[in-house]
Amino acid sequence: MKVLSVVGARPQFVKLAPVAEAFASTEHEHIIVHTGQHYDTRMSDVFFADLRIPDPDVHLGVGSGSHGVQTGAMLASLDTVLDAHRPDWVLVYGDTNSTLAGAISAVKMHLPVAHLEAGLRSFNRQMPEEHNRVLTDHAADLLLAPTRVAMDHLAREGLEQRSVLVGDVMTDVCFRVRDALRDREPSLPEGVQPEHGYLVATIHRAENTDDPARLRTIIKALAALPLPVLLLAHPRLVARCREHGIDLDAGVLRTTNPLPYQEMVAAVVGSRGVVTDSGGLQKEAFLLGRPCTTLRAETEWIETLEGNWNVLAPDVDQVADAAARPAPTADRGTPYGDGHASPRVVIILAKRAA
Ligand code: UD1
Repeated sequence: MKVLSVVGARPQFVKLAPVAEAFASTEHEHIIVHTGQHYDTRMSDVFFADLRIPDPDVHLGVGSGSHGVQTGAMLASLDTVLDAHRPDWVLVYGDTNSTLAGAISAVKMHLPVAHLEAGLRSFNRQMPEEHNRVLTDHAADLLLAPTRVAMDHLAREGLEQRSVLVGDVMTDVCFRVRDALRDREPSLPEGVQPEHGYLVATIHRAENTDDPARLRTIIKALAALPLPVLLLAHPRLVARCREHGIDLDAGVLRTTNPLPYQEMVAAVVGSRGVVTDSGGLQKEAFLLGRPCTTLRAETEWIETLEGNWNVLAPDVDQVADAAARPAPTADRGTPYGDGHASPRVVIILAKRAA
């Protein structure tokens, strides 16, 4: 079997890592196509190096742009790549513009498409990720769902026949990295010490970064928290703050570049909690047993809300109380699987290859 993975943005490299590893221990051919949606070394190359992902076979180098320009550039380049390889499956991941482009390109060329992390829904039609998820699920031939809730969403949309519950590949990589860290101390900037407590924060979603008034209020609220805040700044956040003269070093903020995956996991493990608008980080906090405060009105990962492990704080005034709460004691269960989803993905693809 020949499988061609299309990836392009940071969270997809994390998901690709355990899948590529699962392919490596089989006879199957696995081709990696990087769209170039994320191109900064810290957003892309370090993930391939640190998570030991083979170098991409093809790099489309599309870079940034509006949604239409970025997605269109990917579509224009993917046709020839897919035609040259004619894989048994095109495998797309998550909910970015790279996901949608991979799915549309493949379906138009009558190549079977599998969507990993299918069935997630925020039910917020303003989110670019929600458009990407829904359109990709309905275009794909095989829907690889991470959770029961995702399976239910797919069934409600009439997609049950094409759906399989495989578990969450992010659990595979998160647990593997956590176990490899053992007791290694995270490398943290000055003023951030596990023994004195700190929070890890990330902000990058359009709904939080693209309205200057909201962005200013969020940064002000983070800067006034009672603990040092290790703010891992996505390029989009840095760009918007620079544009609007918002100080990323105010108050308790300790702003650094985005971290490689291992260091991010170590930073979360050493922290008292997480404040974020990232889907991936909400779940990583949950898997690593740290309380999370989510700067959004809804979440796709609703299992994290059980027992208050994750608290939604769309209103910035709620952030201080939520972020300062202690870790809950409620059992988290294993809604995101057992850490062995990736081998299952490979087995199901092989079984269903035409
Ligand atoms: C994308 C995904 C989002 C995911 C996030 C993870 C879509 C619609 N969104 O959002 O779901 O959670 O990745 O990070 O696909 N930039 C750089 N260097 C880079 C990448 C981006 O400077 O390597 C800057 C550019 O100014 C760009 C902006 O960040 O315009 C936004 O990047 P883009 O890839 O369009 O979306 P993200 O916000 O990263």
